[in-house]
Amino acid sequence: MSKFLNAKTLNICLCLLLAVGLTAAGCGTDDRVGGGSNASSDASADYESSDASDDSSLITVGFSQIGAESDWRIAESASIQNTLTVENGYNLIFENGQQKQENQLKAIREFVDQKVDYIILDPIVESGWDSALEEARDAGIPVIIVDREVEVEDESLYVSWVGSDFYLEGVRCTKWLEAFLEKEGYGDEEINIVDIQGTLGSSAQIGRTKALEDAIDTHGNWNLLAQEEADFVQARGKEVTQELIEKYGDKIDVLYCENDSEAYGALEAIGEAGYQAGYNLAAGEIMVLSFDAAERGLTDTKNGVIAVDTECNPLYGETLSSMIKTLEKGGTLLKTNYVREAQFSAYTGFSTVIVDNVTYPVTFLTDAVMETREY
Ligand code: AHR
Repeated sequence: MSKFLNAKTLNICLCLLLAVGLTAAGCGTDDRVGGGSNASSDASADYESSDASDDSSLITVGFSQIGAESDWRIAESASIQNTLTVENGYNLIFENGQQKQENQLKAIREFVDQKVDYIILDPIVESGWDSALEEARDAGIPVIIVDREVEVEDESLYVSWVGSDFYLEGVRCTKWLEAFLEKEGYGDEEINIVDIQGTLGSSAQIGRTKALEDAIDTHGNWNLLAQEEADFVQARGKEVTQELIEKYGDKIDVLYCENDSEAYGALEAIGEAGYQAGYNLAAGEIMVLSFDAAERGLTDTKNGVIAVDTECNPLYGETLSSMIKTLEKGGTLLKTNYVREAQFSAYTGFSTVIVDNVTYPVTFLTDAVMETREY
């Protein structure tokens, strides 16, 4: 667009998770669980790996976490560590994979050797888990997958998955962009978009990237200038944005950041390069779109430098605990469980987006809304 305008320089409810065995409360109306916000998260939790206790009355759970790449990830770790506590009847062994699948595979194998009661896996990427999960299954250890998905030959390698519909998140974001451009009279302009991708091969990247690519395919005037991986990390988000601004400069209208941490880095790069982030494309501002709705992401959204932040809910502690308790009672779990998520903006031009005939609210971000947030 800029070249024509010449202007630029879980509190998650459980009833739907559980086919048998647990009392439900406050459930939603579709196959998604939880609201857009929140259970507890205590950011003071220790994210280093922890060892097993030998109290045999406790349920021993091995949790293989990806790492600590983002605010979101830290909130997820805190939610799980603060829920699967000794007081709540758990002996949690937390293994930080430091962003490496090989570390996560090693952790699963160690959990098997330690004869844990359950394994929880948040997989960095979708592929490559079959043999480690087979070892867990052969040892009779139920595996619950959380957040991102695994792609395995045999789905009986895990008992249940709970996580986000990353494609839907991306579609809600691109629908918001479409509605914004229409509303502000940019509907027929050329719009140049850059995709700052998350870790390639992760469900979050696959879903969000595909949603953007699909939207670009259906909008003849949306151009994908570039796609660069930034690994869901702030420093990479900054670096990649610097490179892209150097290469494309005034041409960039929209930065589609696949998580908040990348957006923080992108905002730094935009400012340092002498640009402004915001809604006013005609005045040369760069529009930043983001995912997660972490505290800082929402503050940036309230201040208008992130145009829309589509939630990815990290508060899995209570949900996982209820899932384990159901299994302990001999109950079964649904195989696939989506969490329900919200979307936030400080733009007042519309308050819903429609995807496949379903209307989703876009929450106008105020201090009062911010106060209800727990991560
Ligand atoms: O898998 C969830 C994604 O991973 C979140 O969007 C991101 O912040 C995290 O690192």
